[in-house]
Amino acid sequence: MCGIVGYVGQKTAKPILLDGLSRLEYRGYDSAGFALNSGGKFTVQRNAGPVQELIDASTHMGLSEKIGIAHTRWATHGVPNELNAHPHRAGQIVLVHNGIIENYSQIKTRLISAGVEFHSQTDTEVFAQLIEYHRKRSEGTPEEALIHAIETAMAEVEGHYAILLLSLDVPGKIFGVQFGAPLVASQLKDGCVIASDIQAIIPYSNQVSFLPKGEILVAAEGKFEVRDPKTKKFHSVKTETIDWSADKVEKNGYESFMLKEIFQQPMVVADTLSGRLPTTEESNFIWDNLEAHRELWKNVQHVYLIACGTSYHAAMTAEYFFEKWAKLECRVDIASEFRYRNPVFQPNTVVGVISQSGETADTLAALHLAKEAGLPTFSICNVPNSTIARESGLQYPTKAGPEIGVASTKAFTAQLTVLSALALDVAHLRGHPQLTSFRDLARLPFDLDKVLSQSETYLKIGETLKDKRIILFVGRGTMYPIALEGALKFKELTYLPAEGFAAGELKHGPIAYIDPQVSIITLAPKDEWYAKTISNMEEIRARGGHIITLGTDGDTEIKKVSHEFISLPESAWGTQPILAAIPLQLLAYGCAKALGRNIDKPRNLAKSVTVE
Ligand code: AGP
Repeated sequence: MCGIVGYVGQKTAKPILLDGLSRLEYRGYDSAGFALNSGGKFTVQRNAGPVQELIDASTHMGLSEKIGIAHTRWATHGVPNELNAHPHRAGQIVLVHNGIIENYSQIKTRLISAGVEFHSQTDTEVFAQLIEYHRKRSEGTPEEALIHAIETAMAEVEGHYAILLLSLDVPGKIFGVQFGAPLVASQLKDGCVIASDIQAIIPYSNQVSFLPKGEILVAAEGKFEVRDPKTKKFHSVKTETIDWSADKVEKNGYESFMLKEIFQQPMVVADTLSGRLPTTEESNFIWDNLEAHRELWKNVQHVYLIACGTSYHAAMTAEYFFEKWAKLECRVDIASEFRYRNPVFQPNTVVGVISQSGETADTLAALHLAKEAGLPTFSICNVPNSTIARESGLQYPTKAGPEIGVASTKAFTAQLTVLSALALDVAHLRGHPQLTSFRDLARLPFDLDKVLSQSETYLKIGETLKDKRIILFVGRGTMYPIALEGALKFKELTYLPAEGFAAGELKHGPIAYIDPQVSIITLAPKDEWYAKTISNMEEIRARGGHIITLGTDGDTEIKKVSHEFISLPESAWGTQPILAAIPLQLLAYGCAKALGRNIDKPRNLAKSVTVE
């Protein structure tokens, strides 16, 4: 969702801000803007629409200013137009904001009765006006008054947020604070860059500091510091090295980030497994933090997996792994439901949260709920040092590298890889070793290459789906969550109706709408449910449905009941879901491309869903 960039230093700020906004586009947004301190006045430009429009509209501006803040906005309060775009001006300050101010309406009413005038429908302007209101009434130097005003406003607002602001009274500094939405800063040789995520910083440095919650940032050309609200003292923030480089966030010749990320999957799975696979029957998977891992799982009797969207489908798949291999009760839940139910936890329960971005608001809230219940927690995140990764008890990182396409692909297969390794390892710890399955994981990158070698076929079949009334994805066992994921990918990319169903559920409803205008993607590799899935296919065929089957290479029987057949390499049960995910990604891609959709940035969607 929204993205923030700030720069103060010796260089011209505007190109750095606009480059940062372009790198944050993947998060999803509908308007963009920047503000520069032009010595005694602000230069502000805001536009509804793409960052490119902001770039085009500002070619003659900001040619010398060395300090500024910028923002991409994903509308929550107020329509996506220029007036509601950030930065928002209030008296002597301009402010950009990520997150939500929940009690903005009450504060706005109070400020209006105190004579404050508003110009937008946003909660952000309320925050800006509130800070300005207090600034005017605070004592001390301009900097002290501003910091006091920010702290006073923070005590009044409810919600989670990250802000950056400039003040005409304190011209060479950027102020900010994160309260539940991340801010990352990096000290460069010639200045300081701050952003809502590391993508905007990585071209300049891989040395970054994740700002602590609730501490006010003061960034100047030569250094940045944060202020501890209890001691009122400034201190520096620990620097961490990020193992991502700028070329990892380029398309490298692919027509889209998503296509690049689909083709990276063999390498991503290999990287995720690299150096970690057990070598003998007695040994376990080699996690980074082996001691803590063993301690965490020592007495576990129940595992809860919580996530949203694609990550939730990875969790659903893992339920089959934990039950079959580790003989461990596993419950899976959607974070937005889990957090508002009243879940009852059994003793010896561990809670795992899964998130590519590590910033999803509902997943983070679910993690907090589990921690408040006193349960041990772990996370499977892709973005290093993300909020969820940092706040969870133990981390099992995926090593997919930056995922820019809004539709998750390589992060999903990396999550499945980690989850299957984890379930196998827990099985081993619980006295149910499944060593052959570790060997199956080891050959997965080669099998993924084989699947990808047929990419043109999947893309072409995808194209043919564009005129269908609805696409139905069905499967049994682990193929059921993969069917859900296939339908989600299809909806996100094509904007066409698609549904995922457990094949056994067809007779309980969806069969009513089967006709030749409906395509049914059936996931039917040779597994223990194969014969039952074939019966379901016969039922669809009898009603005129158009069947496309994903089956095991050389399966002639299933071809007879299918209109089209996509072959998957023969593989073990535990690796089939990972292999089956790829053709579904490419089917959706082929159809979306034929429809002229924006592949990397589907409409209305955000990469990082930081509001609930
Ligand atoms: C995936 O293609 C979607 N864009 C979306 O469902 C996503 O998986 C979901 O928002 C969860 O995100 P997370 O993994 O970053 O928590």
